[in-house]
Amino acid sequence: MEKNSNADLDRLLKSGLSDITHAENSKNLEAVRVQLLGKQGSVTSQLKVIGSLAPEDRSAFGAAVNRVRAELTTAIESRSLAIVEVERQIKIESQRIDVTLPGRGLEPGGLHPVTRTLRKIERIFLRAGFNIAYGPEIEDDFHNFEALNIPKNHPARAMHDTFYLDPETVLRTHTSPVQVRYLENNHPPVNVIAPGRVYRCDSDVTHTPMFHQLEGLAVDTDISFGDLKGILIFFLQEFFERDLPVRFRPSFFPFTEPSAEVDMGCVFCDGAGCRICGQSGWLEVLGCGMVHPEVFAQVGIDNERYTGYAFGLGIERLTMLRYGVNDLRVFFENEVSFLRQFT
Ligand code: DAH
Repeated sequence: MEKNSNADLDRLLKSGLSDITHAENSKNLEAVRVQLLGKQGSVTSQLKVIGSLAPEDRSAFGAAVNRVRAELTTAIESRSLAIVEVERQIKIESQRIDVTLPGRGLEPGGLHPVTRTLRKIERIFLRAGFNIAYGPEIEDDFHNFEALNIPKNHPARAMHDTFYLDPETVLRTHTSPVQVRYLENNHPPVNVIAPGRVYRCDSDVTHTPMFHQLEGLAVDTDISFGDLKGILIFFLQEFFERDLPVRFRPSFFPFTEPSAEVDMGCVFCDGAGCRICGQSGWLEVLGCGMVHPEVFAQVGIDNERYTGYAFGLGIERLTMLRYGVNDLRVFFENEVSFLRQFT
């Protein structure tokens, strides 16, 4: 009996030590420990054998079981230390940070193409001696229409697709009312540009309900149409950075007389004729004229003594021509891949 039991103990010790050495992680090792030394464990159950032994064999066998248990316990402890160290190394390895890798960096934003165009236009006119003036986007009927020689029921009102807030208040349909406001508060000589948002109840490929215009106004005692031609040709050549042909076509605006529309040689085909200029070789870029005497009368300026010129241009249109963009709506969709091209 004793022989057998001692042989069992030896086998138990050997296989236990082997299991311990082969345990790969703390979880496996704990399973091995429970299996050997737990309440139902194989070593623990050897203690139950003691009762069936001859009384004189009991203490020696009990001591043998305890030795096995102590040996296994020591083996488990040292294996456990080794495993903890390995697991720590694995964790360190997996959380390693290479501080020498290049950073992701911050992406700088950029100015919107309409803003870029506006700033470029402003710089050109500031160099030519103009000041910048601003007016309200919510405008009254008098400044938006009446004082600009567009009385109620005038057919020109139909062209404006106006957003009315109430019968006397509108979202300004153009920047021309800033001419009126500026002349109400400043005496000639006057040299101003007035950039800003304008609104029209209209939306398709070439129209958005909000867009940007820039107004120009010069008033003095001896301003002529020649001055108007000079400043606009200078502006267009500076803006497009090339020597473009420019032509003035007779037109009509209620607040200028005479009035003209300005065309420039098509920047896409150099005047040869293409889809963008409708095969004409010309692109229409702005409206202008000599300030109508009635506008001076509305703001109390002596129209016998003073003359002036005015012009109005669309910022989005010039941006499209400058960058070769053919859909107006992309300016307002905040598509990052589109905007990023301008940073
Ligand atoms: N206000 C006009 C528009 O929105 C543009 C314009 C034309 C402005 C001729 C002017 C001008 O100052 O002289 O269509």
